Amino acid sequence: MDYTVMIPAAGSGRRMGAGYNKLFLTLGEKPILVHTLEVFEKDRACTGIVLAVKPEERPSIQDDLNRFGITKVIGFADGGSERQYSVAACLKAHVTGGIVLVHDAARPFIRQFVIDELVSTAAKFGAAIAGVKPKDTMKFAPVGIVEETVDRDKLWIIQTPQAFSFDVLKEAFNKAKADDFLGTDESMLVERMGHPVRIVESTYDNVKMTTTEDLVFGEILLQRRQQEDEK
Ligand code: CTP
Ligand code: MG
Repeated sequence: MDYTVMIPAAGSGRRMGAGYNKLFLTLGEKPILVHTLEVFEKDRACTGIVLAVKPEERPSIQDDLNRFGITKVIGFADGGSERQYSVAACLKAHVTGGIVLVHDAARPFIRQFVIDELVSTAAKFGAAIAGVKPKDTMKFAPVGIVEETVDRDKLWIIQTPQAFSFDVLKEAFNKAKADDFLGTDESMLVERMGHPVRIVESTYDNVKMTTTEDLVFGEILLQRRQQEDEK
């Protein structure tokens, strides 16, 4: 089943502390952004990539696309001040139907089987998001004093990709805009319409490159992927 993917890449990487957009930092020899794009470049079901970027970063990103042979970018959108606005800009400018994925540019280690499962689940049910179960004991403690140990079998740590049928996502973004609602992921916008969102079990290595420790982990994951590919 074919899909298009919207990739917000217009952040500033404040928590990484590099002083510039963390997506330009390299893992191995390639920028993080290129690793992420390569996943979709290789997936035959992906028919197009829409990238939200800061206008001033677009020329250097275009250079990287040329340099690393990324051919599937069908459009750019100007990133906004919040991630949600960056995704909204992609949706408005370039995506018009079918199954749509949203994936953080900062998650280069997403696995193909998770993408496949998200796309087929979204095609059936309208909305599907990637997640993993917590490994640690989880406590509810709103003011730092434990009120309850939460049953962790009922909890999920949510990642991207998040997959939707275009109509569901469009309606959710329209409603969020009308209500001035800002969510931390696309799923929240869909949830508040009352539309069920299914969780697809992802992998623990689909980490978001957020702080410098993640880069250390990222280098090791990259080596492991290269070894897997050689087998
Ligand atoms: N993003 C975006 N537009 C924004 C903010 C974030 O397109 N206004 C993108 C980032 O480039 C990243 C993804 O959304 O690929 C997830 O965001 P996050 O990991 O928080 O990245 P940053 O916002 O860049 O990092 P930080 O929050 O530490 O500043
Ligand atoms: Mg951020």
